[in-house]
Amino acid sequence: MRLKITLLPGDGIGPEVTHEATRVLNTVAENYGHEFIFDERAVGGAAIKEAGTPLPHATMDACFAADAILLGAVGSPELDELPPAMRPEAGLLTLRKALGGFANLRPVQCFDSISDCSPLRPTVVRGANILVVRELLGGLYFGEPRGRIRADNVHAAYNTMRYTEAEIERVARLAFTAAGERRGKVASVDKANVLETSQLWRETVTRVGRDYPAVTLEHLYVDACAMHLMTTPRRFDVLLTENLFGDILSDEAAVITGSLGMLASATVGGTVDLYEPVHGSAPDIAGTNSANPLGAILSAAMLLRHTAQLEQEARDIEEAVSAVLDAGHRTPDIAGNTATANTTTSRLGSLVADALAEIADRCHAYHAV
Ligand code: IPM
Ligand code: MG
Repeated sequence: MRLKITLLPGDGIGPEVTHEATRVLNTVAENYGHEFIFDERAVGGAAIKEAGTPLPHATMDACFAADAILLGAVGSPELDELPPAMRPEAGLLTLRKALGGFANLRPVQCFDSISDCSPLRPTVVRGANILVVRELLGGLYFGEPRGRIRADNVHAAYNTMRYTEAEIERVARLAFTAAGERRGKVASVDKANVLETSQLWRETVTRVGRDYPAVTLEHLYVDACAMHLMTTPRRFDVLLTENLFGDILSDEAAVITGSLGMLASATVGGTVDLYEPVHGSAPDIAGTNSANPLGAILSAAMLLRHTAQLEQEARDIEEAVSAVLDAGHRTPDIAGNTATANTTTSRLGSLVADALAEIADRCHAYHAV
């Protein structure tokens, strides 16, 4: 298999974690006989500094020319004062919109060996395995009109929460299909007791759900959902949500895994799929070789699974990550208490790559018998 992957390391810890993800992809290429061609481009703050814009044309062109895109993170505090359209985040949002990927998949899985890293009790989080399906192109993030006004001495700002039935339907179908391949449950999140968009959301999801009789559907208000995620995370299989609710709930759900650094994501349904860890640019630890690269590495596994249908390779990366965690390797965010952190970003990446090479070797030996 030959894959062209556009790399967008971005800002903060983005370049460090992306480097480890490509190390693991290179190990896949060598051990499973694939060819991955990387094309690295600037995005976010890095692109503002280099080209004066958060999403240069050359970056956009490289993205559209690729089979998949792997992004690190965007955001730099020193650029926070720029007007909204010029901020690093605008680069990512414009890219998402241009690509057209409307479903953002965020698996939230508690790895047994680090279940004590969560501030929640291990008995609560152990075995939790949720797929957050976040609608990514609608709602408050993109709704028009939006803006700020100053009139008659009143300074105000407004955004529009808007969804069409078609936008809800396409992401709902994807969530039901995913649930059918998992444990057969969809929990749909809304605020239908207050918002019209949520009422349309609930009606549409209910109607679409009738086409998937094997999947059980429940509706939850977003506030109650936020609580249930912390008290009974195991009750969830697929969590279907609109854009802003999904942004918030996925960071909250990360607490179940012990660290935001563990979460991977895939944005699918558009022209080219986009993969990125859920954590941000973490400027406070950028350049210290202490960021957790597992979210980026697990995003690379998702890339192989969804874009390239390389299910075995994706599983083997996940198994390598488990093995390295089982062996006790910890960056500070998954150390429980930072005094027991015993590894760096680059070391953890190498350990996963080594574990993967060993798994691949074992499989080949097995096939040779
Ligand atoms: C995420 C991030 C982004 C979002 C930011 C960086 C624009 O928080 O992917 O969750 O809000 O979608
Ligand atoms: Mg977020």
